[in-house]
Amino acid sequence: MEILRTVDALRRAVEKARGEGLSIGLVPTMGALHRGHMSLVERARRECDVVVVSIFVNPTQFNNPDDLLTYPRTEQADCAMLEAAGADFAFVPSSEEIYPEPDTRVFDLGSVAEVMEGAMRPGHFNGVAQIVSKLFGWVQPSRAYFGRKDIQQIAVIRRMAAIEGFAGEIVPCPIVREDDGLAMSSRNTRLNAGQRAIAPAIHRALLDAVEACKAGESVEQVRRRAVDAIDAVDGLRTEYFEIVHPDTMQPIACWEEAPRGAIGCITVYCGEVRLIDNISFTPVKP
Ligand code: PAF
Repeated sequence: MEILRTVDALRRAVEKARGEGLSIGLVPTMGALHRGHMSLVERARRECDVVVVSIFVNPTQFNNPDDLLTYPRTEQADCAMLEAAGADFAFVPSSEEIYPEPDTRVFDLGSVAEVMEGAMRPGHFNGVAQIVSKLFGWVQPSRAYFGRKDIQQIAVIRRMAAIEGFAGEIVPCPIVREDDGLAMSSRNTRLNAGQRAIAPAIHRALLDAVEACKAGESVEQVRRRAVDAIDAVDGLRTEYFEIVHPDTMQPIACWEEAPRGAIGCITVYCGEVRLIDNISFTPVKP
């Protein structure tokens, strides 16, 4: 595996591959890689001739300076994992390389970016759109792989790609969980032992929510049930739990509004650590 530090080197590598008629898979990451990321890399490896993984903690998507400061950075371990997984290129640039000038672009991301994470983290999705559009422009991937844990991010990236005219396929990949159900996240490393022990209550509440939906409870009853269950755990605090349409990301009032199945998207504070998760509700029968 080759480690590329500059945009020029990245461009040269992918142009050569494209010239040889090879398909290119891109896995954008912010590093601190775990099994969730590796499942994206493995899928890209299976589906594409050349696999490029970017590792860049993108400052423009952090609306909380402390979060940016404390975001785990583990470049050596990350590169070792990518090498073992058979990635061809790790793109590991500096901030100056990505943003030689401040990026002042404002994307019209529409209503998918206005709710949930968009409402709680102003500017976050514009920052995601800035970095991902740069990566798409440089790499022009045949396929780009993103984890469904950040499901709203996928909707936003689809919108950005449509506006910018990127042709590559955006491939959503399943959430990877620890044995006790906690969704894998780089932020999990910031949980202390006590927090780590209570965090799986989030996934348990989501599973209960799915059962309650199957048993005939209304959207609001299901929503309330999950929030109450989580907030009853000392040390957990729900920031939001919205049951949304899978395409528009808009909250639904009744199950029939999402006939192909709704998504329950949740964000919970476990101490100071902000954890995100989601679950699919099975489609309602007509
Ligand atoms: O999901 C992430 O890790 C980041 O938001 C992404 C897509 C790599 C952009 O910085």
